[in-house]
Amino acid sequence: MPGDDGYQHDLLVIGGGGAGLRAAIAAAEESNRLSIAVLSKVYPMRSHTVSAEGGTAAVMRENDSLDTHAKDTIFGSDFLADQDVVEVFVKEAPGEVIRLEHWGCPWSRDPDGRVSVRPFGGMTVNRTLYAADKTGFHMLHALFQTSLKYERITRYDEWFATSLLLEDGKVCGVTALNLHDGQMRPIVAKAVIMCTGGAGRIFPFTTNAAIKTGDGMALAYRAGVALKDMEFVQYHPTGLPGTGILITEAARGEGGHLKNKDGYRYLQDYGLGPPTDTPVHRKMELGPRDILSRCHIQEHQKGRTFDGPDGHYVHLDLRHLGEKLIDKNLPFVRELARNYVGIDPVHEPIPVRPVVHYMMGGISTDITGKTSLDGLYAAGEAACVSINGANRLGSNSLTELLVFGARAGRAAARHALERPTLRSNPLAQLASDERRRLDQRFLRADGREKIADIREEMQKAMESGCGIYRDRATMEGTCQTLRKLRERFAHISLADKDAIFNTELIAALELECTLDVAETVARSALAREESRGSHTRTDFPKRDDARFLKHSLAYRTPDGPRIEYLPATITRWPPEERKY
Ligand code: FUM
Repeated sequence: MPGDDGYQHDLLVIGGGGAGLRAAIAAAEESNRLSIAVLSKVYPMRSHTVSAEGGTAAVMRENDSLDTHAKDTIFGSDFLADQDVVEVFVKEAPGEVIRLEHWGCPWSRDPDGRVSVRPFGGMTVNRTLYAADKTGFHMLHALFQTSLKYERITRYDEWFATSLLLEDGKVCGVTALNLHDGQMRPIVAKAVIMCTGGAGRIFPFTTNAAIKTGDGMALAYRAGVALKDMEFVQYHPTGLPGTGILITEAARGEGGHLKNKDGYRYLQDYGLGPPTDTPVHRKMELGPRDILSRCHIQEHQKGRTFDGPDGHYVHLDLRHLGEKLIDKNLPFVRELARNYVGIDPVHEPIPVRPVVHYMMGGISTDITGKTSLDGLYAAGEAACVSINGANRLGSNSLTELLVFGARAGRAAARHALERPTLRSNPLAQLASDERRRLDQRFLRADGREKIADIREEMQKAMESGCGIYRDRATMEGTCQTLRKLRERFAHISLADKDAIFNTELIAALELECTLDVAETVARSALAREESRGSHTRTDFPKRDDARFLKHSLAYRTPDGPRIEYLPATITRWPPEERKY
């Protein structure tokens, strides 16, 4: 067991979701000499991967090819994906999903025994593997149980990482708060992998669990690492009004229809038609998410959506699919609709509206998951390895966390094997400094500001300035509001001053992270004077490859993010107009 001077490992993974567990397993497989730790603010099976529904994309059939998967991904990204990274992604994807099968993931199967594949938005062939509509649950379970067989993987469940420890410009661990006893510890490691997920909670209406507050992104950003492509925020077209709970795209892949208040399949009016009875790839309800979300807003502006207590919505009609198919392939959709809106989709259409779902941007990494900071790696939604560009295709993210979780695990393991043993004593001093900082800042402070007020104002500002449609004036307003909220955050006060299981303290730390991340989104969006993928500006309605075929990089400064750029990598698919 670790001593009082610190908890010492070779490699530390922050985050116990899909990417984190895949990274830990890959590192354990790389060498049996490594001591590996997984630190997570929640028990791993409560990570947000558990709630992924529709499936994971990989080339599994003879009518498909790696080039087709790559091209669909690049086209969907509005040509901002790095094409060399996409080529590696599609190549390694099939091996990863087969490995997961061997680890116990119960993929749904066809009568001939092959794993089933379903259509998904923006894909030209059926390539999304699934486990009914609880794919994330089953994948996470398979990863978690596999991780348990490695004794050299230690877990710190319900610990919160508060800062990266740096020595001579190298990462050497984190300071982390053990929620159970309120103690701050240095956890020393030769390599750290951030797998902390996205930051949907910077918005008020999201499919994301309350835990998705961009903690890892903020820690890396504060340590000087750039956050890449943060302006690209994905709205999923079908969330439940009120709660934002996801109604999976698989419902449309299985043949569900989107209808306006006149019962009309309105997507045919937006160049996605003609409507058919059976789903057609990339047409109608299987168009990409950015386009479908914009169609919803335009339909609303024409007065053709429903109005409810939780805002405007349209209908997702599954009735024609029949009870048997719904119960076999979409049981969770039925359960969610019944429990959260009191509607049985076998008999009634489900009310749905666009909802913030995914951040295309994140901690800037190379193709191995390495960041610009020696010893720091990242994978999954927390990272931006650049396969999603300006718009991710549904079902690519579960595959991404497998492929790039494994890559980051292997690269970090090799780094840790080469690095000399670290001294933990000076780091123990850093941990007590960090404890003192938190005490003074939060537990002994006596300010007037409340966490809930600041959070609500941040979320409102993000929705108004950085929603589906954006323009300069509202984004500037959002940036100003976010700056003021930072000042107010300095005067925050907590009602709970206790050390043990202080969830209010965690909420304050999370809020600080969201404020950092929100500013990078708003500033990067303001600086990108074009429309591309999910970033749609009414004042710059066209894509502008001459100026913006490049990734944004947001660096932290005392005055807010500084935005720089990095060219996108084009290999075999030159940019063309993105038409479906
Ligand atoms: O609709 C869904 O099941 C979401 C999938 C994804 O975001 O990849």
